[in-house]
Amino acid sequence: MNGAVRAVVRGAIVKGCDAYAIYEGYEGLVQGGSMIKQMQWEDVRGWLSEGGTLIGTARSAAFRERWGRLKAAKNMIVHGMDALIVCGGDGSLTGADLFRSEWQGLLAELVSAGELTEEQIQGYEHLTIVGLVGSIDNDMASTDATIGAFSSLSRICQSVDFIDATALSHSRAFVVEVMGRHCGWLALMAGIATGADYVFIPEQPPNAEKWGDEMCAIVNAHRKKGKRKTIVIVAEGAIDDQLNPVTAEHVKTLLVEKLGLDTRITTLGHVQRGGSAVAYDRMLSTLQGFDAVDAVLESTPETPSPMIGITENKICRKPLVESVALTKSVATAIKSKDFGKAMALRDTEFEE
Ligand code: F6P
Repeated sequence: MNGAVRAVVRGAIVKGCDAYAIYEGYEGLVQGGSMIKQMQWEDVRGWLSEGGTLIGTARSAAFRERWGRLKAAKNMIVHGMDALIVCGGDGSLTGADLFRSEWQGLLAELVSAGELTEEQIQGYEHLTIVGLVGSIDNDMASTDATIGAFSSLSRICQSVDFIDATALSHSRAFVVEVMGRHCGWLALMAGIATGADYVFIPEQPPNAEKWGDEMCAIVNAHRKKGKRKTIVIVAEGAIDDQLNPVTAEHVKTLLVEKLGLDTRITTLGHVQRGGSAVAYDRMLSTLQGFDAVDAVLESTPETPSPMIGITENKICRKPLVESVALTKSVATAIKSKDFGKAMALRDTEFEE
């Protein structure tokens, strides 16, 4: 995400715009003052490789309320800002589009309350919103990769490589729980990239009655071929086809009781969100950040808010509202066990 902020700041400066960083997400926009800072070229020096977010992030209860969005709108006008580039997940992007749709009403209310004058709002009749997707979960529909996902995947692979030392030495089994919320991308890709024995993901729930036997049969077959270590990766959102959670504890119990394997659980937790960004994320955040600035400059009051994505290795713009809605529909289809629908929805193409 720091790479994205760096690219937006520098892209904006190159294009002759003023760039402001809003600290602590929407909370900073509501509070204003020192939370909003004009950024210069050198302010983002060294940010490309940094993990986390150097301008902070927070869940803002105030921005969910109209009074909070009124304060946010006033702060935008006071700073002369007429465009907002938001980097986040579906909640942040939905919030941004709501802000845009209410914009004229918010300004009118601020003027009638005497908070702003007619002169102050002249030239600010329209708010431009552009979305960038930052999430380790890689759970946004209509883009192949979200900013942060490949760094997190890399951290998981590195951690499993470290775990391998003990697994191999003691001939142990490890059940590794990885993040991803309701999305199995991190678990699945980590399973492929580490040569894991078995992977549990929400998108392909195993049969509730049989999965234990099936997993043990596969692990046993690998052991019989002479494998000294066993790695089973469990996505935190993994479920069976009866929607019961598949937990690392349950997997461990089966490996111990059915196969007699000396088994440990490792929950990777927040190490998956730290460390320096991998090359792919540096490239993605930079290209997308620069395109976000272009998207702001090319937008018109009629243009729907775009979300900057990447498909087939090309940076692209997708309709923000539809992409968020599609992401939610995929999640709903998975929750209601309609996996065919989920897959079809995920492949939806928007008209150019
Ligand atoms: O969405 C990113 C993510 O890291 C998920 O993978 C995980 O479920 C969640 O956030 C953890 O959130 P928190 O840091 O609030 O516990």
